[in-house]
Amino acid sequence: MTVATVGVHIVDILARPVSYIPEGQDTALVDQIRLTAAGSAAGTAVDLVKLGNEVVSMGAIGDDELGDFLVAVMAKRGVDVSLLTRKAGEQTAASILPIRPDGGRPSFHVPGANLGVMPADLDEARLRGVRAVHLGGMDVTFGLGDPAFFALLDSLRASGAIVTMDLLSEMPDLLGMARAFLPHVDYVLPNDSQALLMAADLTADLTDGADAGSSAVSSPSVAEVSAAALALLGEGPRGVLVTMGAEGSLVVTEAGIEQVPALKIEVSDTTGCGDAYCAGFITGLLHGQDVVGAARWGTAAAAQVATGLGSDAGLTDLESTLALLT
Ligand SMILES: Nc1ncnc2c1ncn2[C@@H]1O[C@H](COP(=O)(O)OP(=O)(O)OP(=O)(O)O)[C@@H](O)[C@H]1O
Ligand SMILES: [Mg+2]
Repeated sequence: MTVATVGVHIVDILARPVSYIPEGQDTALVDQIRLTAAGSAAGTAVDLVKLGNEVVSMGAIGDDELGDFLVAVMAKRGVDVSLLTRKAGEQTAASILPIRPDGGRPSFHVPGANLGVMPADLDEARLRGVRAVHLGGMDVTFGLGDPAFFALLDSLRASGAIVTMDLLSEMPDLLGMARAFLPHVDYVLPNDSQALLMAADLTADLTDGADAGSSAVSSPSVAEVSAAALALLGEGPRGVLVTMGAEGSLVVTEAGIEQVPALKIEVSDTTGCGDAYCAGFITGLLHGQDVVGAARWGTAAAAQVATGLGSDAGLTDLESTLALLT
């Protein structure tokens, strides 16, 4: 196995286009409804397979029909789901996403079994055999924020594996706690609001009392994002890659700060763009790209996902992804 994805597994139910919720019992017709395997572990796992990696995914789902669907669709896409823990009586995490005509994506979400993921749900032996471990949504699977798991990550890195981390929520407390992972990962890939919220305590002096939470609602400036990313870099990872939607991403390492622009594409739905960015980035690193080069691979994979409905739509294979960069 090349890559293990660990953490959040979600079933996404998407409808497009939705511009209002019908009154009373009325029905609004839409063009398309899709069900996908999503979330920062499951969605990234599917994208990683499409980009040519062998992938095993670990985490927890319920013993319900949503869980049956998630296992079936991930397996159909080629992800090894044999190590997913199924928890009796729990609900598999799910989101309902009414996609706006402009691609905006409000959501309704049940965190379900993701909240109960523990180190005991992971297969240590399999983790020791992979070249990269992607931690998806450690703010939500906070049970993994455990000294024994941190020691395992340190040991995997010492034997040459790359450890990356993405976040899921926009909840200040959960994101603040997830900062504890930073000394134990190589690269962290939050979006801009997550970066600001994660760094809020660290940058309080820099922002001179400004409320990082409120600036995260409107789009934060590149200066604000840079300050947050530098603060997060100070916590120990080798790189902080902050995605900023249509503005692209900021790649922050000891070598400096570089902005990688997004590709210009016709946007249909941006759900899962962050997951695809992670998948492209990891694939780039595994192919020997440097950090900025790998960020470009991530940008190309994310651009493809923005063209279709759902977190894996638009992405097909590595060749077509890399063709966008030429
Ligand atoms: N409108 C867009 N046009 C082109 N590229 C986009 C657009 N939106 C997102 N992207 C690409 O996707 C990357 C990740 O997007 P974004 O910052 O929205 O991630 P995210 O909020 O983590 O998404 P999610 O968690 O749902 O996967 C961006 O860095 C950019 O390269
Ligand atoms: Mg994201």
